Amino acid sequence: MSVPSAMAGRSVTVQVPATSANLGPGFDTLGLALALYDTLHVTARDEPGVHVEVHGIGEGEVPTDESNLVVRAIAHTFDAFDLPLPGLDLVAHNSIPHGRGLGSSGAAIVSGIMAAKGLLEGIVEIDSEKLLALATDMEGHPDNVAPALFGGLTIAWTTPEGPKHKKLIVHRGVSPLVFVPEHVMSTALARSLQPESVPHEDAVFNVSRSALLIAALIQSPELLLAATEDKLHQSYRAAAMPETNKLITLLREQGFAAVVSGAGPSLLVLASDPGQRLVAADLVARESDTPWQALMLAVDFQGASVSVTEPAALV
Ligand code: HSE
Repeated sequence: MSVPSAMAGRSVTVQVPATSANLGPGFDTLGLALALYDTLHVTARDEPGVHVEVHGIGEGEVPTDESNLVVRAIAHTFDAFDLPLPGLDLVAHNSIPHGRGLGSSGAAIVSGIMAAKGLLEGIVEIDSEKLLALATDMEGHPDNVAPALFGGLTIAWTTPEGPKHKKLIVHRGVSPLVFVPEHVMSTALARSLQPESVPHEDAVFNVSRSALLIAALIQSPELLLAATEDKLHQSYRAAAMPETNKLITLLREQGFAAVVSGAGPSLLVLASDPGQRLVAADLVARESDTPWQALMLAVDFQGASVSVTEPAALV
């Protein structure tokens, strides 16, 4: 089949937020969208081939051929509908740090899928559930891609029919603060440190904290410290990110709800009011042995967006 003529010359602009997954006890389940964005412009062409430009984070580092993750996500979406991939011109402007636990790979995947959705508008319609399924296929777990797609706080779970999600609106007092180190952590390495099974009492511990965390995030921020305890992943990974672990312990001793962001090595503080963040930033600046960038980020409530420009509108 040839490229549908409705698509050639069509351009799309996509914006996707950073995310923090797990949030302590919600391993592979909970995620929060943060107001820090990657932006992508894609134009479809009749001539085959891809041309990729990357600006900002990843410039000169990420591949600019068909192996680029955004290109692979676009191709995966076209494939899912048995449609041939058109020629593509991509320009990415990235702000989400790579390899730091802020959902950059999930954002790249969601960028590609949303770009494909825009390019395919009027040709095939892709609903929310399909978007999540396509993104989870590529990411392997839904906890970053769900908030990247839908914004806010998301609970994601898998079923034999595919991944599902529920989006919740976070209490307005909840104030995220992310500390980003200069070093990276591989998610694959972090996942390899997880045991095959965990004690039953640890599972019960995390079930209780995860349930409490939903209440804390949407209604009772004063419960955030108790609600962000975890026994399923952080202790197993702690030796691979000792500085993260040290700062989390210090912050928690001072009453801050600090957790590893995603698979690390960034850490996320869920302050119960905006002012608390300055105190936490001051503590980290005094106690850390290496530089950490403190990002006071709002919760993103919108998630990924795509806008479509038809070729006629360009002339
Ligand atoms: N839930 C995932 C993990 C998030 O912690 O491994 C990072 O992709």
